[in-house]
Amino acid sequence: MKRLKVNLKERSYDVVIGHGALNSLSDIVKKLDIGRDAFIVATPIIKALYGSRVRKQLKKAGCSCFFRLIPDSEKAKSVSICINILNELAAYDTKKRIFIVALGGGVTGDLAGFIASVYRRGIPYIQIPTTLLSQVDSAVGGKVAIDLSVGKNLIGSFYQPRVVVSDISLLKSLPDSEIKNGLAEVVKYGLISDAEFFTYLEENYVNILKSKPEVLEHTILKCSKLKALVVEKDERDNKDIRIALNCGHTIGHAIEAAGGYSKYTHGEAVALGMVIEAGLACILKKLNPKVRTRLEVLLGAIGLPTRIEGVDLDNIMTAQEHDKKIISGVNRFVLPVKIGGVRVFDSIPTSKVRTALSERM
Ligand SMILES: NC(=O)c1ccc[n+]([C@@H]2O[C@H](COP(=O)([O-])OP(=O)(O)OC[C@H]3O[C@@H](n4cnc5c(N)ncnc54)[C@H](O)[C@@H]3O)[C@@H](O)[C@H]2O)c1
Ligand SMILES: [Zn+2]
Repeated sequence: MKRLKVNLKERSYDVVIGHGALNSLSDIVKKLDIGRDAFIVATPIIKALYGSRVRKQLKKAGCSCFFRLIPDSEKAKSVSICINILNELAAYDTKKRIFIVALGGGVTGDLAGFIASVYRRGIPYIQIPTTLLSQVDSAVGGKVAIDLSVGKNLIGSFYQPRVVVSDISLLKSLPDSEIKNGLAEVVKYGLISDAEFFTYLEENYVNILKSKPEVLEHTILKCSKLKALVVEKDERDNKDIRIALNCGHTIGHAIEAAGGYSKYTHGEAVALGMVIEAGLACILKKLNPKVRTRLEVLLGAIGLPTRIEGVDLDNIMTAQEHDKKIISGVNRFVLPVKIGGVRVFDSIPTSKVRTALSERM
């Protein structure tokens, strides 16, 4: 089992990673002394799969457990569901020392973390991520949010968990499509900050797809470390450092939105976004085309798309112009300039963005 510290002064916390990490939950919770009553947010599937293991551990730590079930989709991050849970939490909160447990993928983590951040101006919460995406990305870093009908993640906080427990054995039940989804973000870490890790992925992606424990553990530890380093330098995303994590996401989000959030999954859209943004960097003469080819070969081998099908170019352009990262009407892209390095570019001519997209259609 590996333990990694996210250094954020009084908000520092550990990320515990390993096969069977959940078996140490009882000791972890006892040591943290964050409360006596666990309010566990989970979907019905995750409660059925792992609820009793979590309950057993928390009981061992002397905690009471209450499961609040949520729908199994992005729709769970709605204002109405959030308010309902807050009301139930307040009714439940009599002579208790409550802490929240987010048991599930990124949807559960974002919603439960957001609730923890606003209830009584903040109560402790812990993340037990159950998808590859949430173990490598969303559970670490403290960005928590819910959606508005006009856009995703528009109501949110920066609110760090007290611990992240990433048990690799929980990924065994994850469908292959969700492993691929998470792998798009994993490739992103190599592309933006670690050439050696990118090469490791080229050599080991098959073993990740086969869920080989030691390869998964190395990958999740590496990504958590890379994310922690970025978050430590720019916790609140206002120093042009954390923005590196958006590589592939400006175009990716636009493709997701233009496809009505049904044509491509988030991971697929991010894979397309990375290839197109790499293409844009080539057009701007900031990236060697051989690097784009390497990226494309790796994503394609994983089974992620590298060409857009069935989504209209004009719709992608419109969605991209509405992207929330556009500052005062100027577009902003985080583009790869080598394997393991990105730079922020402002005001890229629309015609160049269009060319980069059309090359992939
Ligand atoms: N806060 C952040 O920094 C951050 C970063 C990236 C993404 N996100 C958010 O994360 C969300 C996406 O997260 P996600 O991809 O984990 O999606 P998700 O939480 O919807 O999970 C994906 C699917 O996998 C299933 N599942 C989860 N764990 C499983 C398991 N162990 N076995 C079997 N099935 C399992 C779920 O039931 C669900 O159907 C989005 O809302 C996105 O906005 C947040
Ligand atoms: Zn993402």
